[in-house]
Amino acid sequence: MTNSQRHDVLRMSELHKEFREPAGVLHVLKGLSLTVQRGEIAMIMGPSGSGKTTVLQIAGCMIRATRGSVQIAGNDVSRASERLRLEMRRNHIGFVFQSFHLVDALSVYDNVALGLRLRRHPIDRKRILEMLERLGILSKARKLPRDLSGGEKQRVAIARGLVGEPDLLLADEPTSQLDSHSAEVVMELLRQAVRQYNPAVVLATHDPRLSCIADRQLRLQNGVCHA
Ligand SMILES: Nc1ncnc2c1ncn2[C@@H]1O[C@H](COP(=O)(O)OP(=O)(O)OP(=O)(O)O)[C@@H](O)[C@H]1O
Ligand SMILES: [Mg+2]
Repeated sequence: MTNSQRHDVLRMSELHKEFREPAGVLHVLKGLSLTVQRGEIAMIMGPSGSGKTTVLQIAGCMIRATRGSVQIAGNDVSRASERLRLEMRRNHIGFVFQSFHLVDALSVYDNVALGLRLRRHPIDRKRILEMLERLGILSKARKLPRDLSGGEKQRVAIARGLVGEPDLLLADEPTSQLDSHSAEVVMELLRQAVRQYNPAVVLATHDPRLSCIADRQLRLQNGVCHA
């Protein structure tokens, strides 16, 4: 193993993803390869429908590629059991969903605490409250998601994805609903996370503002990533 491979958190090689539809087969990824190292922020841009969410879902062990291999922290997850994939999701991956996926019945605070509870980490109340404060949503800590604006929900989803300090943070359009101030705060949080504990970060986005924190910008087109 070379020195750089040792630092690779995510290695995706020659991925293909086909969705079988009644109308035919939709071939979304056509040999995509992407490697992201510790401490690196990679940004994937590309038109709507190009497959950005699909790439993140494959990297996040939520769906499987049709062909190709995915390694996370040296583990081949493409051929692994669902049990190992669940372990990887729980212990190594933080995911910020494009449509947030907050738990409707839990408060803002408890939604963020879930990011720790699922990893069986102790609940660090101070850290959660500090994060909510930085994101400008501390006053919403006891509210339910249904009482939040879109941008507030998005900030809760970001806090939940980051709080467990995952080795691999996958964020799908994390600033799509944020004004420029909130987007700045989120970018600073991501920068700080990289400085403090060195995760690999993949951002799928249409938002050119994020380019100022990205180490690498990639374009997803015709099923592959271009530098
Ligand atoms: N489960 C599925 N079954 C069938 N087709 C799917 C499925 N998931 C995604 N697709 C299709 O795959 C293509 C890529 O979708 P994906 O959500 O990855 O795009 P995206 O780049 O994230 O788009 P956006 O910028 O709008 O979020 C789309 O044509 C979509 O309709
Ligand atoms: Mg998407």
